[in-house]
Amino acid sequence: MIKIRPDIAALHGYAPGLQPDEGGWVKLNTNESPRVAPGVLARLRAAVTDAVRLYPNPTSEELRARLAERHGAPPQAVIVGNGSDDVLNLIIRAVCAPGAHVAAPHPSYSLYPVLAAIQGAATVHCPLGPQFELPVRQLAAARGAVTFVASPNNPAGTAYGADELRWLAARTNLLVIDEAYAEFADEDRAALARELPNVCVTRSFSKAFGLAGLRLGYALGPPAFIDVLHCIKDSYNVSRLAQAAGAAALDEIAWAEAQWQATRVRREDFAKEIRRRFGLTVYPSAANFVFVECAPYDAEVVQRELAARRILVRRFADEPRIANGLRVSIGSDADMQAVLAALADILAAAPVRADGR
Ligand SMILES: Cc1ncc(COP(=O)(O)O)c(C=O)c1O
Repeated sequence: MIKIRPDIAALHGYAPGLQPDEGGWVKLNTNESPRVAPGVLARLRAAVTDAVRLYPNPTSEELRARLAERHGAPPQAVIVGNGSDDVLNLIIRAVCAPGAHVAAPHPSYSLYPVLAAIQGAATVHCPLGPQFELPVRQLAAARGAVTFVASPNNPAGTAYGADELRWLAARTNLLVIDEAYAEFADEDRAALARELPNVCVTRSFSKAFGLAGLRLGYALGPPAFIDVLHCIKDSYNVSRLAQAAGAAALDEIAWAEAQWQATRVRREDFAKEIRRRFGLTVYPSAANFVFVECAPYDAEVVQRELAARRILVRRFADEPRIANGLRVSIGSDADMQAVLAALADILAAAPVRADGR
């Protein structure tokens, strides 16, 4: 028998959304972009040469410099990773000794507690308010080795203000602002990573740049801390192709910005239609998804019926507070029309839950 750490043997791993191998789905369950810039694809194809036999640049030097320029920071303030998940993991590894704990609002991105647990650290979950407001006092009182705040948050897309984040940063060891969805918001919080000595901002190329399949993300933070993350990362944590795609995506940023704006418009139109046609609650979102509260219908039934029509959306069945809702990514216009048509069909026939929730 292979001996395994008892805490790891008991661990419930992160449950990723369904990623079907076959096409033909309207895939709105993991907040991917409906499009990728044609110029980025062309650059990727050009990068497929026999240079792939060589290791990539270990610190993604060129991309790192470009990202630093984008944020008005020195390159030493940036680390590039294999998705922002990689960077979140490095941060936890850097600050959590076994027995430490981290703090995070609840519900939020469910990877934080898993990464912490792998490191032997517990998570103090601080419940969000009724409208998903940030429980800043509880988060500060939890005194985590690191405090995570996703803004916009997952699953409702709630964005948090600079002042409340500043207040929290002043009362915590390290504040990580996870901005995987920041490009879809009206404002971002990257400036806080430059302004404050204990704030890291993490970003992703998965959502805003349509590169989820390549795995690319980064963090912006105090150079001395970013240095530590470089010491503990895998030597070659970002592939040649991912580095090339990231640089190309920044060259095509005007194309991406037009997509972000179109996504914001589609998000608001979709939310308005869901409220108007079906009377359901949709929380205000600053991300590329919305959270639809399904009461008085049963979210499990609605999700199943959508899947029967080849439409995938996400439900968090194990989280009582949000289990009767569905998180729907904002896809193409045709995708959103398909969801609205399917819901009209499904809700006309769906039973109303006996408990009225
Ligand atoms: C809040 C949040 N942070 C980070 C990530 C992971 O992003 P990446 O694909 O860059 O690892 C996700 C993905 O769903 C997310 O929702």
